[in-house]
Amino acid sequence: MCGIVGYIGNGKAQTILLNGLKKLEYRGYDSAGIAVYDGSRLQVRKSKGRITDLEDHLLQSPLFGTVGIGHTRWATHGKPSYENSHPHSDTHGKFTVVHNGIIENYLELKEMLESKGITFKSETDTEVISHLIAEFYKGDIVAAVQQAIRLMKGAYALAVVTDYEPDKLIAVRLASPLIIGAGNGENFVGSDIPAILEHTRDIYILEDGELAVLTREGVTIKNMNTDEKISRSAVRIDWNHEQAEKGGFEHFMLKEIYEQPNALQRTLLGRTDRTGRNIVFENLGMSNAHIRDIEKITIIACGTAYHAGLVGKQLLERLTRIPVDVDVASEFRYRHPIITDKTLVIAVSQSGETADTLAALKEGRRLGARTLAITNVVGSTIAREADDVILTMAGPEISVASTKAYATQLLVFYMLAFYFARIRSTVSTPLLETYVAELHKVPELVGQILENHGQVKQYAESLKDKSSLFFIGRGLDYSVAMEGSLKLKEISYIHSEAYAAGELKHGTLSLVEEGTSVIALSTQEDLYEKMLGNVKEVKARGAEVYGIALADNRTFAKSVDNLYLLPNTLPLLTPIIAVIPLQLIAYYVSVQRGNDVDKPRNLAKSVTVE
Ligand code: F6R
Repeated sequence: MCGIVGYIGNGKAQTILLNGLKKLEYRGYDSAGIAVYDGSRLQVRKSKGRITDLEDHLLQSPLFGTVGIGHTRWATHGKPSYENSHPHSDTHGKFTVVHNGIIENYLELKEMLESKGITFKSETDTEVISHLIAEFYKGDIVAAVQQAIRLMKGAYALAVVTDYEPDKLIAVRLASPLIIGAGNGENFVGSDIPAILEHTRDIYILEDGELAVLTREGVTIKNMNTDEKISRSAVRIDWNHEQAEKGGFEHFMLKEIYEQPNALQRTLLGRTDRTGRNIVFENLGMSNAHIRDIEKITIIACGTAYHAGLVGKQLLERLTRIPVDVDVASEFRYRHPIITDKTLVIAVSQSGETADTLAALKEGRRLGARTLAITNVVGSTIAREADDVILTMAGPEISVASTKAYATQLLVFYMLAFYFARIRSTVSTPLLETYVAELHKVPELVGQILENHGQVKQYAESLKDKSSLFFIGRGLDYSVAMEGSLKLKEISYIHSEAYAAGELKHGTLSLVEEGTSVIALSTQEDLYEKMLGNVKEVKARGAEVYGIALADNRTFAKSVDNLYLLPNTLPLLTPIIAVIPLQLIAYYVSVQRGNDVDKPRNLAKSVTVE
């Protein structure tokens, strides 16, 4: 969770750190702080709340210097407060640390330090690190950091500065993301690429167990335990920094919703053979024999990515006849799952850093499965842990509410199901070719929906004051309804529930009364009749129904109060287009309620704790 940034060079550290933190604010925004070496000592400024609060504080009392570290926090140990904000320092303020992750044995270490007479100022696990480094320092900061981390158990990305050696910045990574940016006469550290992209595109991705020493002149990467030097080339990153900025849109979420046609197009690119009729994944290590051998697939993911997995299950089962389980990643490890060497575990994660998903992936591998990651971030931990990776190519997703990542995750599931079905001969070639041809039209259909969003805005206007609502659907529509409901909940703070339409009558129908709002999806031709029946059930209890259906299903209009028509496509492909009005409804409801759309309360973008 939390975001880290670090700078050493000749520029204004305060400005560089603040700008970097703004780009990382999606990782957490309970408090923020920076430490800058002012030529004689390290000075720290921090404040509870958003980066703008820190910025106001720095206007009153600026920091001057060219070396420093910064942090934006999502609270884990200790409530959001000034005292618990990073950076944290030792008793004499000589060693200053920012940290992302969790030190599992911090209480034990804290007791040990307290027994030596050290007093703690905060409730954080991080403060332990600065005191440990101070304890071990004998004139060599690298050695002191190494000694400290030998005692630490857990997950951490650290940046450390000391005013004894102000020409060095130390970065360490163990199970929490950290990258280094290589500049000219200056070098950078960041939790994530957007933090430093405006300064450099040449990035070293630190691996777990590595320590980097940054000076103005260069970067040395070492094994954090053995001290052995590691030679690594920088990776050139293509993203321009405007891609990580809002570019004209009021919010990142809206920008990202509108980026979906391009994101889908990019994800399709290069994934068909020369005829354009067959899906291929050239870089997949799995042989055809291996694909034919799969007896079971288990999809693991959290939140929105889990909802993409629910659609993935239906596609894979329908087209490949392989049984598929979908597990919420945080539950997977604890339910003694049945996994064999003929199981394929698919981990879906936008960030590629979600701790629950990572832990489940490792468990799947431990139990003997082959593993595949569907992720949006090259070089992310999940991408590196899995045997195979399929990238979603959505580009950086900044808004906490995931939109384009979901759409591209769905697209990857379609492609994977078509690819496996061809190799396993479970669907006829002409039918598969029709599917692939129709899939290529989806980005344009999404574009059509986005051009025409007036009706969705009206829906949002009439829903904005509701205290609760239902999303209902059957089959694929039910999975999409779950995503629509999550999106609305997380950014509008309106309670909502997604229900399998046929299941309402088994209990939940008792909640439907005069004026209850229901969003009903009906895109599956074979389920039209049944869905009509379910809509009638809620209408009979006084519900106001907002229908969403394909353009050729106009009969639905007679049964619902409002009808939104999606452009026609094959029923199998509707999830990618049906989710778009649901994303827009959530967005406009949130805007109309005056919420902070991109940073909903209590949530963070990348959840790197279990
Ligand atoms: C909701 C949302 C979250 C994430 C979940 C997993 O809009 O974004 O539910 O989908 O935290 O994150 P990733 O995909 O990064 O593993």
